[in-house]
Amino acid sequence: MNTEISIIRPDDWHLHLRDGEMLGAVLPSSARIYGRALIMPNLVPPVTTAKLAESYRKRIKEALPEGSDFKPLMTCYLTDSTSEKDIHTAYAVKAFHAAKLFPSGATTNSENGVTDIKNVYPVLEAMQEIGMPLSVHGEVTDPEVDIFDREAVFIEQVLEPVRRDFPELKIIFEHLTSKSGVDYVFEQDEYLAATITPHHLLLTRNDLFAGGMNPYMYCLPVAKTFEDREAIHKAAISGDKRFFLGTDSAPHPARMKEKVGAAAGIFNAPTSIGYVTQVFEELDALDKLEGFTSIYGAGFYGFLPNGSTITLAKQEEPVEMNWQIKVGGDVVKIFKPDTPLFWDLVD
Ligand code: DOR
Ligand code: ZN
Repeated sequence: MNTEISIIRPDDWHLHLRDGEMLGAVLPSSARIYGRALIMPNLVPPVTTAKLAESYRKRIKEALPEGSDFKPLMTCYLTDSTSEKDIHTAYAVKAFHAAKLFPSGATTNSENGVTDIKNVYPVLEAMQEIGMPLSVHGEVTDPEVDIFDREAVFIEQVLEPVRRDFPELKIIFEHLTSKSGVDYVFEQDEYLAATITPHHLLLTRNDLFAGGMNPYMYCLPVAKTFEDREAIHKAAISGDKRFFLGTDSAPHPARMKEKVGAAAGIFNAPTSIGYVTQVFEELDALDKLEGFTSIYGAGFYGFLPNGSTITLAKQEEPVEMNWQIKVGGDVVKIFKPDTPLFWDLVD
């Protein structure tokens, strides 16, 4: 017998859509599922001004399938020279819904990111004042720090001082991967929230090496240990409104993944909600799904939940699909962990 579940249409609070042909190819997968998404600004060149954000938003709207109500919510890529004045006006007219902190060198297209958090202190001050959320890639970039500890060290070296200096700045600790991160968020107050991705609910670092080194399991922050994943599970199903879904769906062409220096990023949009539902079912927490996917994130960003619903059904056989999409002369492979997928969007 098929089990079905209907939930308020979810939002994706962390999404990479890219631009041009890639945008056109990947956008329908998200628009089919999500009502809104917070769009990451790490294009080349990055989305650093309201003007750039507005033209990017228009390109996204134009690439939407006909009749889609999907709403892209734009973010500002912080650089060492972002001015607080620009942020102020852009947030007031909703040209930006958040500013994104990429520590310079932390991940894909972060070269123009912030080199020292103190450089953006005046901007953080202004954001605190106007209630504009700061979305954070929480990893230090020091090559001397073990890659699996970079999230924990970021808390100590960057997040904790920022929290102390701007206690009422709304911060989203993006794509949480570690027990240290989870424990930290639980200890804090309502000004700190965190997103959790489908892939970090499923993967551990073993998956990077299972059956040989696998770049399709590689993203940043990198998946961690079983203990870390268990902490991520607990946070996701806790019913605590500070933890919500951000897929971090990050498409790269196969030619950029299957090479030395493979690009970091997992394209999970098509199966994201199916896998999240499956993990919640396995953890016997389907009653906590809707809060995590459709209510808490909206609340944090000052929105009401979406007005429509989606229905997912558990299939008897694993979901079959073409696990890649075409982009020009290349393909983008869809996230396919070892765990077969049984949950599918049916309505
Ligand atoms: O794995 C990742 N891919 N992590 C990020 O932080 C960026 C993203 C991308 O843009 O490809
Ligand atoms: Zn991301």
